[in-house]
Amino acid sequence: MELSYRPRRLRRTPALRALVREHHVRPTDFIYPLFVHEGATNEPIGAMPGASRWSLEGLVEEVGRAWDLGIRAVVLFPKVADGLKTEDGAECFNEGGLIPRAIRRLKDTHPGMTIMTDVALDPYSCDGHDGIVSAEGVVLNDETVAILCRQAVAQAQAGADLIGPSDMMDGRVGAIREALDAENFEHVGIISYTAKYASAYYGPFREALDSAPRAAAGKPIPKDKSTYQMDAGNGREAITEAQLDEAEGADILMVKPGLAYLDIIYRLRGESNLPIAAYNVSGEYAMVKAASERGWIDERAVVLETLLSFKRAGADLILTYHACDAAQWLRQG
Ligand code: PBG
Repeated sequence: MELSYRPRRLRRTPALRALVREHHVRPTDFIYPLFVHEGATNEPIGAMPGASRWSLEGLVEEVGRAWDLGIRAVVLFPKVADGLKTEDGAECFNEGGLIPRAIRRLKDTHPGMTIMTDVALDPYSCDGHDGIVSAEGVVLNDETVAILCRQAVAQAQAGADLIGPSDMMDGRVGAIREALDAENFEHVGIISYTAKYASAYYGPFREALDSAPRAAAGKPIPKDKSTYQMDAGNGREAITEAQLDEAEGADILMVKPGLAYLDIIYRLRGESNLPIAAYNVSGEYAMVKAASERGWIDERAVVLETLLSFKRAGADLILTYHACDAAQWLRQG
């Protein structure tokens, strides 16, 4: 054949492929999500093989391991004791609570590690919702935002670098920005869960924290989060959310889940100049783990290909439970 252009020429050797590769994944792209509890031992999480609820000591060790692998950011999630859960989730702004203590500890032991926190009521709510549920079963917006602001300030006080509102209440980014600034935390950033969908992919996470919506005596509890998290059928609405978050002062925009919403990452990349984060969520992790345990897929190849897909779609950073494994594989080349 007389072909003027043969794309296979640049695929011929590993060195040529590396030379023209457009996108790369590096350990510094990762934010490593970690679960922490009050227990003295680390508890494996059933639906997330390889992940644990860490004791404070275990957390320090695991963060040290991540640091040694080149990871420079973690996000912390608390498994809160049932006895501390209330309708208004007030434990979330307790300065002596689990998360503030974990942050202080990590800032002592690993001062260079970026610490991100999650802002939402679900781990602290006896109803298992991200906001306060009224007697009529409505998740209240403005009342919730007032509490989230206190939660964000408590986290900043403990030393958090990036505050991550995952609650999807309207107006929370602006309110949190104002609350942080009022307490002289203007250097603390906001990584907003901008386009967070009401997704079935969060199942294993809710098992890890025992934080799923649960029935309560005397009031109707919504079974899912669809009155505040986004509808899977919507794309344009993600752009609206991005515009609002940007106007309210968000520093980084996030899309969650990542894999089923790569189109949303791509669209936000075109709409905003802010960094974009992809959350490779618990259900995505569990599927890969389950299939690779059965020998049905090659875990290493699938994980690295998936992480690259987030970068190609336009994400700058990736929250992923695969962070340590991936960092190790990348190092091996
Ligand atoms: C809490 C929160 C959730 C996740 C992150 N923060 C669960 C939810 O909204 O129900 C999910 C993370 C994952 O599945 O990996 N608001």
